[in-house]
Amino acid sequence: MRIVESLTGMRRLSRRLPRPLILVPTMGALHEGHLALVDHARCLAGRRGSTVVSIFVNPTQFGPREDFHKYPRPFKRDCSLLRERKCDVVFAPAPAEMYAPDASVTVNESTMAAAMCGTSRPGHFAGVCTVVTKLFNLVQPDSAVFGEKDFQQLAILRRMVRDLNIPVRIIGHPTVRESDGLALSSRNVYLSAEERKQAPLIQQALREAELKIRTQAVRRQALENWMRRRIERGSLAKVDYVVAVDPKTLQPKEPIRLPVLLAAAVFFGATRLIDNLLVE
Ligand code: PAJ
Repeated sequence: MRIVESLTGMRRLSRRLPRPLILVPTMGALHEGHLALVDHARCLAGRRGSTVVSIFVNPTQFGPREDFHKYPRPFKRDCSLLRERKCDVVFAPAPAEMYAPDASVTVNESTMAAAMCGTSRPGHFAGVCTVVTKLFNLVQPDSAVFGEKDFQQLAILRRMVRDLNIPVRIIGHPTVRESDGLALSSRNVYLSAEERKQAPLIQQALREAELKIRTQAVRRQALENWMRRRIERGSLAKVDYVVAVDPKTLQPKEPIRLPVLLAAAVFFGATRLIDNLLVE
């Protein structure tokens, strides 16, 4: 497994790597959710093709009061996990190389990025779209794998490659969960023992809402209020948003008809967790 830090080194290498070349963009602090994407990439690349995992904690997608500085960066551990999973190349660009001090061009999606996580994290998806475009240009992959856990991110990136004719196939991968239903996340390590106990309430509430949708007529607002109350049965949970939206457009879905995406962001103290459930 090669570890590449320089941008020119990555660009040069990408020309020589056997195809298909599959990229998995990450911010590191890898867990089994990320590693499932890496296994899937390995499978898509086959024995002959190549897998590249990027590790870059992207400053432009964090708000000023968010956890950029304290985001975990266990680089050595990440590399040994990736070696075990037969990754070919780790691309870990140096922050100073990635962004010129006077960088002034960004990539923005203007409808879906305003909803859901975009409301409480203004600028977040512009940061994501910009860095993913840069990673695509540097690595030149045939396909890139993203998790459905970040459903909004995945939908926006699909729109981005469509609208900008970027020749990369975007591949989604199902969310990997703990046995109690909590979606794996690098931020789960911030949870206290009591918060960790309550965190599975998010997925439970979405599952119960699914049952409601399948068995009775429900109005969107009533369903959203109901999900909020179910999640906030956890005394430490504070719902940021919980919505029922169209999975293609991420706009509110009224009346509720399948397919519908149920999605939530919930604070436990300063830790913000997201999860979703696609009801088809
Ligand atoms: P990060 O949060 O590190 O996630 C990297 C990839 O892993 C994303 O595609 C995310 O959806 C996926 N992922 C995270 N938890 C998962 C889980 N439990 N099951 C399945 N997949 C999971 O998302 C980002 O980084 C950044 O925004 C990035 C795309 C790298 C751009 O900076």
